[in-house]
Amino acid sequence: MLAGVVTRRTLTLALLVLAAVLVGAAVGLLSVTDRPSWAGLLGGLVGLLLGGGGVALALRSSKALTDGADAQRVAGLPLVAHVPPPAAGEDDRRRADEAFRMLRAALVPAPGAPAGTHLSVVVTSAAPGEGKTTVAAGLSRALSRAGRPVVAVEADLRRPALAAALGVPSPPARGLTAAIVGGVPVAELLVEVSPGLRLLPAGELPPNAPELLGSADAARVLAELDALGVDVVLDTAPLLPVADTRELLVHAPTHRVVLVARPGVADRGELRSAVDLLPGSERTILAVSGRSPAPRSYDRYLREGERA
Ligand SMILES: Nc1ncnc2c1ncn2[C@@H]1O[C@H](COP(=O)(O)OP(=O)(O)OP(=O)(O)O)[C@@H](O)[C@H]1O
Ligand SMILES: [Mg+2]
Repeated sequence: MLAGVVTRRTLTLALLVLAAVLVGAAVGLLSVTDRPSWAGLLGGLVGLLLGGGGVALALRSSKALTDGADAQRVAGLPLVAHVPPPAAGEDDRRRADEAFRMLRAALVPAPGAPAGTHLSVVVTSAAPGEGKTTVAAGLSRALSRAGRPVVAVEADLRRPALAAALGVPSPPARGLTAAIVGGVPVAELLVEVSPGLRLLPAGELPPNAPELLGSADAARVLAELDALGVDVVLDTAPLLPVADTRELLVHAPTHRVVLVARPGVADRGELRSAVDLLPGSERTILAVSGRSPAPRSYDRYLREGERA
């Protein structure tokens, strides 16, 4: 328990703070014991400033997510994949492919599920910029590579970016919002990305995204997607700044949820709040994004696997 609160970094900073305060106080005392002097006062002041700065730094650091294990502990969810930064190099590409396969393996219906059981997944995060769209695109591709037909849905009506992430830089102007507001059949709005992988773009962005996503018409569109009988991956808005994804989740009681957390972007409190906002933790899994200190043996294993 204590280990969860006091990290090694916090401990180091606390020791630094203590050292700074002691040095400052010692300098101050040495000068003052003889007779009050500017040097003494200055020494004391520097010590206080260093100490105060250190305390602030230590407090900040104790709120920050440090790594995947930390995120898993804070969220209390199974951590199924660690997604490295996009296309930073050959090793990262290989690790990213494996991460999306891990995610797929954690989500696809268990053996024994009725034939034709398809998957519906909502990808979200606590804060903006944690890697949701990258994960939604990677998971959609991984499902399609496994021979599972997929519809990837650009359901983030604030910053839609899934089309671009899937290599569709100029998606049609009509999309999800036309299906919700205008009753256009989903099948007429789908864009083929690659064999077996189709995209439902966001379409025209509305001024009232939460109301739209929480409407009975949105529920009708989700049912229509479900009736396609294929895997559906929804890329959504972050949970904390806007209500959109919570509204959408009301109509998606059986959807699995992938919560993406990126240490350095969201802090512990934000991750905890996001988990509290999600309806049921039993259908939620955690994916951590960002650079991770992956054991070298993993890379060796992946390389040897490629040669085989
Ligand atoms: N696994 C990752 N590791 C490190 N950086 C990443 C990772 N995935 C994405 N990024 C970077 O983070 C930024 C945001 O990525 P992305 O668009 O996938 O996040 P998002 O959560 O969908 O953002 P938004 O909240 O704006 O929709 C991009 O610059 C992207 O290159
Ligand atoms: Mg996004």
